[in-house]
Amino acid sequence: MTFENLTLDWDAAVVLLTINRPQVLNALNSQTIDELRRAVLELKHDAFVRAVIITGAGEKSFVAGADINELAVQSPAQGKEHALRGQHVFDLIENMGKPVIAAINGYALGGGCELAMACTIRLAAESARLGQPEINLGIVPGYGATQRLPRLVGKGVAFDLLLTGRQITAQEALQIGLVNRVVPAADLMTEAKRLATELSAKAPIAVQYITEAVNRGLEQPFDKGQFLEATLFGLVASTKDMREGTAAFLEKRKPDFKGE
Ligand code: COA
Repeated sequence: MTFENLTLDWDAAVVLLTINRPQVLNALNSQTIDELRRAVLELKHDAFVRAVIITGAGEKSFVAGADINELAVQSPAQGKEHALRGQHVFDLIENMGKPVIAAINGYALGGGCELAMACTIRLAAESARLGQPEINLGIVPGYGATQRLPRLVGKGVAFDLLLTGRQITAQEALQIGLVNRVVPAADLMTEAKRLATELSAKAPIAVQYITEAVNRGLEQPFDKGQFLEATLFGLVASTKDMREGTAAFLEKRKPDFKGE
């Protein structure tokens, strides 16, 4: 796979995906969104990949949003297609079935905050700034923020961020549940790789089913979500990894999960 605006670095079962347009603070233009789609599909279907880290190139920014040069000239029909394409790619990330860790190394604004929200777990550098500034451009978020933000932080806090467009610190993001952990900037990538390596040793099928139970279950009534959970709980009993995990516990040793 070759990309102009992304880099992929493999380290055993962990892949580091870097959005690489530092001259525009890694803003997402159409080409980058398309490259992300191709990369995510490839990583999803690669059985050797067990965890992914997404970050932004350079010291300053994770992703500073959709590329405003493109937004400025879009027609209504193009705008709708643009949003649908981005939403589709972020849905693919959310439902990859493998842990995707956002390593938020700086500005995560607009589409950058939306990209982070589509990831499974968010780590932020102390210096990171997050927000949905679309309102200040006279537009509506288009890559899922009106839906994912209230689900993550609650409706009241979401309205505050969506309507003021203000930037918040990593610490405030932690307080409202928008990020999971805040670490010193110098430790961000080490911590992201440590977590990705830890998660890559878990049973891949159980990881996938937990992701499905949470993502699909949350969009259904409670009883249907629980029924989905029970069904996946039963299904996972067919895996060798389930035998391995329970046997390893009883034999007081570390499990060796194969994804079978
Ligand atoms: N789209 C296109 N270009 C962008 C961009 C975006 N979302 N965000 C930053 N850039 C470009 C700037 O235009 C600038 O280009 P230039 O060097 O050719 O002038 C370059 O990236 C550096 O950004 P700059 O604004 O000079 O850096 P800063 O440190 O002063 O400010 C931000 C950083 C993130 C606060 C500011 O760039 C910003 O507000 N960006 C837009 C955020 C936004 O509204 N995102 C939502 C879009 S829907």
